[in-house]
Order: sequence, then C-alpha cells, then structure tokens
Amino acid sequence: MLEGKITLKELFNKKKKGEKITMVSTYDYLSARFCDEAGIDSILVGDSLGMVFQGKESTVPVTLEEMIYHAKAVRRGAKRPFLIVDMPFMSYQTSVEEGLKNCGKVLKETGAEAVKLEGGEEIVPLVERLVSTGIPVVGHIGYTPQSVNIFGGAKVVGKREEEAQKLKRDFKALEDSGAAMIVLESVPYDIAKEISESSVAITIGIGAGKYCDGQVLVFHDLVGLVEDMKPRFVRRYLEGAKLFKEALVKFKNDVESGSFPSEEESYGR
Ligand code: KIV
Repeated sequence: MLEGKITLKELFNKKKKGEKITMVSTYDYLSARFCDEAGIDSILVGDSLGMVFQGKESTVPVTLEEMIYHAKAVRRGAKRPFLIVDMPFMSYQTSVEEGLKNCGKVLKETGAEAVKLEGGEEIVPLVERLVSTGIPVVGHIGYTPQSVNIFGGAKVVGKREEEAQKLKRDFKALEDSGAAMIVLESVPYDIAKEISESSVAITIGIGAGKYCDGQVLVFHDLVGLVEDMKPRFVRRYLEGAKLFKEALVKFKNDVESGSFPSEEESYGR
C-alpha cells in the first residue's frame, strides 16, 4: 500500500485520539492533487458537482456515469486521501440489489474506498448488505440535497423536537447497520455534539458545528469560487472568483494592447 495512505483504520484512530478529520468535496484531477498535497485526510466526490460543476439547479439530475467519470479524475490526482464517492439520486433507492450492483461498480471502476448514501432508517437494508459485501458506507443525514423537492430548499434540520428525535434515530440506525462515517448537514450544533460524543461511527459536519469528528467543505466554496451563494457554514479561505476574474481581465487587456505575447513568450527560429 502507498506510504501515508489514509485508511478507515487511520480515520477511526483519529476519532479515538480526538484529532479532527478533514474532508473536501471536489470533482477534478487538479483540485484533488491540491487536497492531497495539502494533507487533507479524505476527498468526497460529491454529487454537488451537478450544481457547482454543471450549473444545474440541484443534485437530482446527476447520473452514475458522471459520478464515475469525476471520481476517476479525482483518484488520478489524489492517491493518498481516503476517497468517497456520492451515489447519485435513484442509483440506490429502487432496490437493495440495484444499490449493491451500482455501489460495487463505483468501487471497481474508480478505485474509491467508500460510497456515500443519503438517508436514514429507510436505507438500513442496503447499508447492511453493502457492509457485509465489503463496501464501506458513509451515511448522510440532516439536510439531504437529493430530497430538495421534499424540503423545498436548503434548511436546518433538527430545530423542532420531532426532527431532532428522528435525526438521532436515523444516526443510530445507520451506525448499527455498519456505516463507518456519517455526514451531518445543516444540523444544530448541540445535536451534532450529543451524537458525536457517544458515537462509534465518525461524524463529519457541514453546517453542524465544531463538535463533529471532522468537517467537510466543497472545494469551490472554500477557495471562494462560488460567489452567488454563501451559506452561513462556509468559510472562504481565498477570494478565488475575484482573483480569477482579475487575471482574465489582465489577459484580455494584454492581448488587446499587444503586450502579450512578448518576445520571451514567443518561439524564434
Ligand atoms: O455533494 C456534496 O458535495 C456533499 C457534501 C457537501 C457533504 O454531499
């Protein structure tokens, strides 16, 4: 195995020692390489690519083939981080057999180490089947973007008592069925704290406060490439969009003024 390769065992050791786990959601070779070189523990090839990469309204239209295409590119860029691939909407909901077949296909074709599925108690039979087949599972509860048409848009889940109880039941059901990690999205921090402190499964938060075992952000959000939307839980470490646009304007001006390319940037005979 590659030296320094991050395995599930390492991630569980981090949780045991109280060391925070870092995860980035990204979709291409170069950004994956940056994550690897920066020492990020885990990369998620998130189906958020439907919105961030493809400019669609939601994650709902993303296909299995698209996830596989992006995951292969990410794997080429990042050999060391623990690689997780999101299973897109309707690739695992129709039956356990179909879900197993599609998750197996993702692992075989991409070289990823785990699959991520949205949902709680209702996906337990599939999670059990995957784990018993040798496929590590990452759960995803709280706000689940594939159900945007039920939620009616992004929202915090767990503010009301029934929602909080359901979150805890879903978490326990996933954990008991063998899910290794569970993403908590847009969940009040006190619920995420209570869950994380008593869990065996690793909790990864996005909009779930600081008590989770780890945190995930989308690459394009954290480098400031997404300008038109900034949820409360996003921290921008770079004003990427501004920098990119400044560079493009400079390029345009240089070409138009004739200062690009210079002699040094041209080939002589
Ligand atoms: O699709 C995605 O990128 C995700 C993360 C934001 C958790 O599901």
